Amino acid sequence: MCGIIGYSGHRPAVPVIMEGLRRLEYRGYDSSGVCFVRNRELQVIRAEGKLNNLEDKLADMDISLATAGLGHTRWATHGAPTENNAHPHVSFTRNLAIVHNGIIENYREWKDFLLDKGYLFFSETDTEVLANLIADEQAGGLSLLRAFAAALEKASGTYAVALLSTEEPDTIYAARHSAPLLIGAGAGEHFAASDIPAFLPYTRDVVFLEDGEIARITPLRAEVFSMADLKPVPKTLTRIEWDLQAAQKGGYKHFMLKEIFEQPRVVADCIAGRADTKRNAVRMPELEGFPVPSRLRIAACGTSWHAGLWAQSLMEGWSGIPTTVETASEFRYRNALPVPGECLLVISQSGETADTLAALRLVKEQGIATLGICNVIGSSIAREADAVVLTQAGPEISVASTKAMTAQMTVLMLTALYWGRKRGSLDREITARALAELSDIPARLTGLLPTLESEAAGLAARFAACKSMFFLGRGQSFPLALEGALKVKELSYIHAEGYASGEMKHGPIALIDPCFPSFFLMPYDAHFAKTMSNLEEVAARKGPVVALTNPPKDGMELRVGESWLLPEAWGPLCAFFMLPALQLFSYKAAAFLGKDVDQPRNLAKSVTVE
Ligand code: F6R
Repeated sequence: MCGIIGYSGHRPAVPVIMEGLRRLEYRGYDSSGVCFVRNRELQVIRAEGKLNNLEDKLADMDISLATAGLGHTRWATHGAPTENNAHPHVSFTRNLAIVHNGIIENYREWKDFLLDKGYLFFSETDTEVLANLIADEQAGGLSLLRAFAAALEKASGTYAVALLSTEEPDTIYAARHSAPLLIGAGAGEHFAASDIPAFLPYTRDVVFLEDGEIARITPLRAEVFSMADLKPVPKTLTRIEWDLQAAQKGGYKHFMLKEIFEQPRVVADCIAGRADTKRNAVRMPELEGFPVPSRLRIAACGTSWHAGLWAQSLMEGWSGIPTTVETASEFRYRNALPVPGECLLVISQSGETADTLAALRLVKEQGIATLGICNVIGSSIAREADAVVLTQAGPEISVASTKAMTAQMTVLMLTALYWGRKRGSLDREITARALAELSDIPARLTGLLPTLESEAAGLAARFAACKSMFFLGRGQSFPLALEGALKVKELSYIHAEGYASGEMKHGPIALIDPCFPSFFLMPYDAHFAKTMSNLEEVAARKGPVVALTNPPKDGMELRVGESWLLPEAWGPLCAFFMLPALQLFSYKAAAFLGKDVDQPRNLAKSVTVE
């Protein structure tokens, strides 16, 4: 989604803003722009495409004197990704400019209102309507702060928005509603940005803005007001502990590859302090005051939904809690009936996904307990859920989610063990085995990843020319099949489908031909023999098959097709090897095809629109 940075300080603003925009590139964008005030005039520079195009335009300009400004990377929603629709958008009647992330749903109504009053529009965007709405409020005699608040009160939808005006050239105003925006507080400089890496080289002190608040930043102050009555709101600073190194490539060619290789560390960080192998105990202080639910509903999107599906059988098998899992984007539209004692668990890397947040809010209104599993501290979901378990994956920059899913699986597994023990539904032996095996995963995975990488490269080079492929699995391998297919689709733009192996003969098998490969996820679990039959059905129809499975033992081995051998792991833990293999295959296929791995076309990192 769009990236916003606003700066007011003692440094030349434009280089700081451009650097910030670079660090927000991961969010996905198709045009960009900056604005600043020079000689009392508002300068707005915008460009289609990547940031280099914007940099080329700025190269010939004198930008040295501006010490405040705004920057934006736009992921098109209203209007094509053209320079004209790129942000910032200006209201020329008052010389003010805004940048915006989100959608103003009632913009047509206000556009008609403003057109009737003689305002002119130069783009197709909802953002330009908001800029002129602010100007119109000012024309009615309001100060800039009041006009900003009054215009936002009229806007419905989601937004994070920042404002610069020639009237107060050192001041940035910023506000949010269901889209991320935070303030960075430095010495003699302040920032407003969509995400922390944008300003991390300058400050680690952050103020999290809430919905319904407006921030006013100048070089020396950051003030926050309630939008409703403009009374000051006291805020506290949060110190960010992770550093910029964690948000940089660190020698890897792509963020995605780096993040795949970080997974052993991610598992180790997620279990540190939680998995007590000596006392055979799981510690989840975040859940201590949280009632163990009698029924669990999990809602999430994309990869996070797959993590939820993967955890379903653990919640039922270990915790003994009836569990359903659904996509958050559908959950809210089906009048789900609340049941006393149940809990909605939302899973989200970003903590800002609009559909997931909407599901959380809907259920909260019904008085149902809510729990978030979330990677971003201070995100909307992390703040709004009744309790939150943070996944310690560190910043995930690549648009395609990898290490976040591994962190989610780790934390979900620990939660299932924790609730199972609390409810008395889980054997001590299973807990002991699960904790011991989980603790071994970081070392085992560290040793495995380089081999997986080279094997994935070989397979990807052979299959990258295919137009379509299947990923098939049973039981807990089914969600991983969905994830493998999602990764291939989003990164390499090859059509891929994830299916439950047993569903093949109910229709999809009709697609099989010698150019349509199937990847069977079939570790040595209780489903191996049945999945083997499904594999044979596909092979019999001359479909190429590759089985992600374990080395032969006890008569269990592949009878036909090719195998990609992964080390055997206990119970659900085979997912911690299977998932990185799938991630590396999709990564290598995309890299082989020369695709933009970290920023696939049409995608955004944090989907803050519905
Ligand atoms: C896929 C991917 C998306 C996200 C989805 C939910 O690689 O990244 O499918 O998983 O948009 O995002 P979060 O987890 O931030 O709620």
